[in-house]
Amino acid sequence: MSQVFCVANQKGGVGKTTTAISLASAVARSGRHTLLIDLDSQCNATSGLGLRPTRRHPLADDRPISESVVSAEVKNLDVLPGCPGMSNVEMMAARDPNLLASMTRRFREGVADYDAVLIDSPPSMGPITRAALAWSTEVIMPIQCEYFAMEGLVRMIEVLRRAKEGEGTLASAGIVMTMYDPQLELTRDIDRQIRESDVFGNYVYQTVIPWDVTVSEAPSHGESIFEYAPRSRGARAYAELCMEVLEYV
Ligand SMILES: Nc1ncnc2c1ncn2[C@@H]1O[C@H](COP(=O)(O)OP(=O)(O)OP(=O)(O)O)[C@@H](O)[C@H]1O
Ligand SMILES: [Mg+2]
Repeated sequence: MSQVFCVANQKGGVGKTTTAISLASAVARSGRHTLLIDLDSQCNATSGLGLRPTRRHPLADDRPISESVVSAEVKNLDVLPGCPGMSNVEMMAARDPNLLASMTRRFREGVADYDAVLIDSPPSMGPITRAALAWSTEVIMPIQCEYFAMEGLVRMIEVLRRAKEGEGTLASAGIVMTMYDPQLELTRDIDRQIRESDVFGNYVYQTVIPWDVTVSEAPSHGESIFEYAPRSRGARAYAELCMEVLEYV
């Protein structure tokens, strides 16, 4: 079975898409045949790699998934592009369990040939994000070190607990601190509180992703950080996180 990593946090703008693109690229560069799935109607994971969103989401379409998969510039990396209408699919899925069941089936068929799958999810905990958690073997939760991060985490851990109790494959979870600025006292405080916490402490990756302007510039060039700025601190941090994530599983 492929390793499936869902990058999730219902809080917006915490670095989910950046982490999904960068980790997918790093995992692909490690030689694994990798698929990045964009489940967000913003389609940032798709456009951030210089690709075009689709009119119907491949998981909610009738065509075989293989016809919708596109190759990214990165060797070994394929992308299942996002669709702006995904929020409508989300609303339909809330009312129609058959739709979710068929998406789940299509997901399983579509990923069978890949070594690793990364899922970029929207900033919400709707039915599709919950389904994606159930499809995954691991959830990666990016957080920004700010006061409200802790509240978000409490809710995420609850969702995870329920996902683990359900019928899914979810086995573990990891928290990664993004846009990290060690000069800020608040960053250091939150970092310490999370690492020392009984609830979150065991979940936190050692690697932190520093605030780095090249990380925010890369998507506007349609490139991952490894093509855009391979020697940047951001690229080094994501390469390190990749090793930690693959080792942790
Ligand atoms: N390490 C970093 N250094 C500097 N800027 C960053 C870094 N990581 C992410 N950003 C920037 O922060 C913004 C939010 O990041 P991103 O889009 O990855 O978050 P998100 O959680 O996917 O957002 P949403 O919830 O809207 O989907 C983007 O402009 C991105 O370029
Ligand atoms: Mg995003």
